[in-house]
Amino acid sequence: MTLLDLVHRPRRLRQNASIRALVRETTLSASDLIQPLFIHDGEAAEVAIPSMPGQARLNLEACVETCVRASRVGIPAVALFPSVESSRKSEDAREAWNPEGLIPRAVKAIKKACPELLVICDVALDPYSSLGQDGVVRDGTILNDLTVAALVKQARMQAEAGADIVAPSDMMDGRVGAIRNELDSAGQESTMILAYTAKYASGFYGPFRDALDSAPRGGTDKKTYQMDPGNAREALRELYFDIQEGADMVMVKPALPYLDIVRELRDSTEVPIAAYHVSGEYAMLKAAAQKGWLDWDACIMESLVSIKRAGADCILTYAAIEVAERFLRKQR
Ligand code: PBG
Repeated sequence: MTLLDLVHRPRRLRQNASIRALVRETTLSASDLIQPLFIHDGEAAEVAIPSMPGQARLNLEACVETCVRASRVGIPAVALFPSVESSRKSEDAREAWNPEGLIPRAVKAIKKACPELLVICDVALDPYSSLGQDGVVRDGTILNDLTVAALVKQARMQAEAGADIVAPSDMMDGRVGAIRNELDSAGQESTMILAYTAKYASGFYGPFRDALDSAPRGGTDKKTYQMDPGNAREALRELYFDIQEGADMVMVKPALPYLDIVRELRDSTEVPIAAYHVSGEYAMLKAAAQKGWLDWDACIMESLVSIKRAGADCILTYAAIEVAERFLRKQR
């Protein structure tokens, strides 16, 4: 029954699932997703992380099995984060470039089991720092240039172990260029750099720091190096420098609270953009779903599609394997 004399009825294109599928502008596929994995050196195959339901610290064997699962559903990459025993943490974080360390052993095991799966290694000192900082600390200050010298050693070691992508998440100035130089002079010119370009000093990293026991100690927070949540133009400065220094891909982190930044970067660069749907974003949804307050399936898919719609080419999310296994068909 028509009462109104309407030319336009946008609801026509929403009337059933088929037409909605046909006109959908943004869709998600397994090939958009990167699975972050927490690994540890212990005996236990899995140690649950209470603030991240469904996520665990995996030992090497379980990590490799998880990688095989990820690869089977068409996820192209995993990002590794080590939980380091406190006896191996130090103020100078030297375990970060130990060629016999947990990360290089994991990289080799994963590349052996699934050669096509890209392995991304985080370049930052916090899992190895007894102070929980991403950089070298002297008298309560994070020293930029000394930190870059350490990061360069860490990135080179990761590349030599077989990492496909190194991802500096430390936010020190000049690290992308320094890492590119070092990799090139070490014959690792094919190793890609995914720069954490706009990484904000965020409360949403809380559960990640529980997972790695890497919360900053001693009163110093990360605000002298991670970005201020109030700043958007500054993200463009960081973008400009990272690209000039040779970043292959850039990242915005966290994702949902910073979709405007994803869009600004998308409109300002041709390089691929990754967005990190971080631990706190995952934990919020899981917690609300466990209470019966939100529908996990609907909300995780909506969150990930929103991140892609804002302009991200790929998304780091703890839900990657689950989403790919349950909702997405392999497209490769
Ligand atoms: C540290 C690092 C952090 C995350 C990734 N790399 C935490 C921090 O900066 O304190 C957070 C990821 C997440 O919360 O999921 N280099």
